[in-house]
Amino acid sequence: MAKEVKSVEYGLEKIFEGAQDFLPLLGTDYVEFYVGNAKQAAHYYKTAFGFQSCAYSGLETGVRDKVSYVLKQDKIRLVLTTALNSTSPIGEHVKKHGDGVKVIALWVDDAKSAWEETTKRGAKSFMEPTLERDENGEVVRAGIYTYGETVHIFVERKNYKGVFLPGFTEWICDYNPSPVGLKYIDHMVGNVGWGEMNTWVKWYESVMGFVNFLSFDDKTIHTEYSALMSKVMSNGNGRIKFPINEPAKGKKKSQIEEYIDFYEGGGCQHIAVATDNIIETVKQLRARGVEFLSAPPHTYYQEIPNRLGEHMKMMKEDIAELEKLAILVDADEEGYLLQIFTKPVEDRPTLFYEIIQRMGAKGFGAGNFKALFESIEREQEKRGTL
Ligand code: FE2
Repeated sequence: MAKEVKSVEYGLEKIFEGAQDFLPLLGTDYVEFYVGNAKQAAHYYKTAFGFQSCAYSGLETGVRDKVSYVLKQDKIRLVLTTALNSTSPIGEHVKKHGDGVKVIALWVDDAKSAWEETTKRGAKSFMEPTLERDENGEVVRAGIYTYGETVHIFVERKNYKGVFLPGFTEWICDYNPSPVGLKYIDHMVGNVGWGEMNTWVKWYESVMGFVNFLSFDDKTIHTEYSALMSKVMSNGNGRIKFPINEPAKGKKKSQIEEYIDFYEGGGCQHIAVATDNIIETVKQLRARGVEFLSAPPHTYYQEIPNRLGEHMKMMKEDIAELEKLAILVDADEEGYLLQIFTKPVEDRPTLFYEIIQRMGAKGFGAGNFKALFESIEREQEKRGTL
């Protein structure tokens, strides 16, 4: 088990020391959402976030009980799935949680071994190793439950040449808005209930072989009114990072508690997607109607040169432009990072997105937590949930 640290100045190379290799992960394969209306959600992700039509399965491809649209932008693959009848567990999931992330799929070389190694260590099975085949080859998938009703599906696709998975057809569409420069998933955050963070930290350590490489307690993550605690879990090669949050006591309601109340349980809180030009990406997202949290006060931007110190020399972005777009800046020993957070993308105040550009920094924007949470509290206030 990795030693816990209270600082963001902690290099990724340390991760390799404590991580275990019984579960080699090649990357995030896809993220699947269960939603109320996949057709309309797909339109939103194309129009607002610049995702491209990739694959489809539904009535036209012989599937009678559900429909799925697969969207792609560089290495990011999203799947939007809706039930086609009232008895489907997909519909039950949406009834309970609203639209949300069901599957965080992980790309592996051997799905059967991934399932065996994790269930042997205590994971609850969601899907036994299953071979799926079509004219483009075969895929093996297997799944386990993680926090809430969320699952990890291991995807072994080395013998597959098709557009997504067996059973999916290429989705050819006349409506193709341009991408906005989103590249890959940097991290995905899970919210869990009161006192459950350490349970899930231990679960990721013992079941998945992950290490806890950063910790933030409620003394770090708090404002005048609310607080939370967070521990960042990473796999051995650092490609998969899952911070786990739990609420902490404050004068008013924690944003994590608001999430748990509306999602009716633990679940994925935000997906951080990387870009290498956050100014251009955010300009385009704003023009396409994506709503972001409001900017911190002007003094936040005046303090950036002090906060960045040495790293100011390598900073190419214009601070006035960052302020205009409400982009946040943070730094650690190795560099700086730029980040911004959307408002929730569903009616329930649950899942949102982070857009992040890393310029050497490996942290998660701890220096921005206060400004960020004050901005979230302004939204909670409007919702009557603070
Ligand atoms: Fe994040």
